[in-house]
Order: sequence, then C-alpha cells, then structure tokens
Amino acid sequence: MDVLTVPEHCPDYRGEPLRLGILASGNGSNFTAIVEAISAQTLPAVITGVIYNNPGAGVVQRAQAAGVKSHLVNHRDYPDRESFDQDIVSTLKNWGTEWVVMAGWMRQATEVLLQPFGAQVLNIHPSLLPAFPGIKAVERALAAGVKITGCTVHRVVLAVDSGPIIAQAAVPVLPGDTVASLHARIQQQEHRLYPQAILWAAVGNS
Ligand code: GAR
Repeated sequence: MDVLTVPEHCPDYRGEPLRLGILASGNGSNFTAIVEAISAQTLPAVITGVIYNNPGAGVVQRAQAAGVKSHLVNHRDYPDRESFDQDIVSTLKNWGTEWVVMAGWMRQATEVLLQPFGAQVLNIHPSLLPAFPGIKAVERALAAGVKITGCTVHRVVLAVDSGPIIAQAAVPVLPGDTVASLHARIQQQEHRLYPQAILWAAVGNS
C-alpha cells in the first residue's frame, strides 16, 4: 500500500503517516474499516502488515484484497504467551511498525508485547468499558438487560480491557435484539470509531 499524505481536514496532524501493524484473530471487518479510512484519506496511515493467529481467519482474504501482507503466528505452536508475543514483536519491528492495532485480537498481551511499543498499543472492545470486559461482552450485556451498550477504543495494559479509554460510541439495545443483531449495530459504530480513535491517540487528543 502506498504512503498517503495527511488530509487537509485533519489540521491537527502534521507528522508522517502512522505505521500501523494489525493483530486480528477472525473476520477482520475492523481491519477493512481502517483500510477504507486510509483510502478515503481520513486516516493518515499505512498498514505495515496483518498478524493473525487462527489459520483460515477471514482477515487473510481481506488483507489480500487490500494488498496488505499477512503473517500467521499461531499461539498453539508456542509453549507460553511470552514466546508467542516475542515472535509477534519481531515481525512487527521487521515491518517498521510503530502502532499496534488489535482488531478482533482474542489473545491477552504480555509485557513482551507491550514494553517495546509503550502506549502505542490499541484495542477495540464491544462494550462500554469498564462494563463487560473479556469474552462474550455482547452476550453478557444483553443478558444483563442494559438499555445502552456500545464499543470502546483503549490503550492496552496487562489487565484485560482495562487501559486508558480513548473513545467510545453508544449503541441502544432494542426490543427483540439478539446477540447477532446487537453486535452488528455495535460493529457499525466500531467501524466509524476505530479509525478516528487511532488518529486521536496519535495527536494526543485522548
Ligand atoms: C469486534 O466486535 C471487536 O470489538 C471484538 O471482536 C470483534 C472483531 O470483529 N473484540 C473483542 O471482543 C476483544 N475483546 P472483526 O474481526 O470483524 O473486526
């Protein structure tokens, strides 16, 4: 993917394009949203590559379609989380990555991954944190009977889904919602929010 120039409607950002390395475990719709924001010049960034941990993850086809390289690092091949993260760091650094963007990444980060990138590790989570951290967040929000949920972009720290919040979007829970229908509406907001929040994190507004 070519380096894109900083868009005029982003006057606060004067730096070089952000170099984003994406970590994804599954479908990859958030990856595609970031690709589209870069193409639309609303996010001044380049994607250095995608790391995925599940063979056959949908994000692989999406990366191929976008002309972005992808690389499998399968956690099942490693004795512990630290050695898994070390291989991820080596690959990201080889690609010249500056920002680690978790987009549906279902592995808990260790210090091995966080230390080299400092505050420049971001995650998106399908709830209004600190409510419903961890797995099955949409299902648990629905079961709890909340009337408003949403999504959160935050910096990653060792504790799961607990780092400083960069941005959130609210989504109402509608009568008759299923996990699938609610998650689909949350994802619409994720796709809008994540590219913006990456830029906010970079310019220091959040
Ligand atoms: C997203 O809804 C994201 O918030 C969630 O996984 C989905 C991935 O969708 N992440 C987590 O639950 C992390 N705790 P995608 O693969 O289509 O981008």
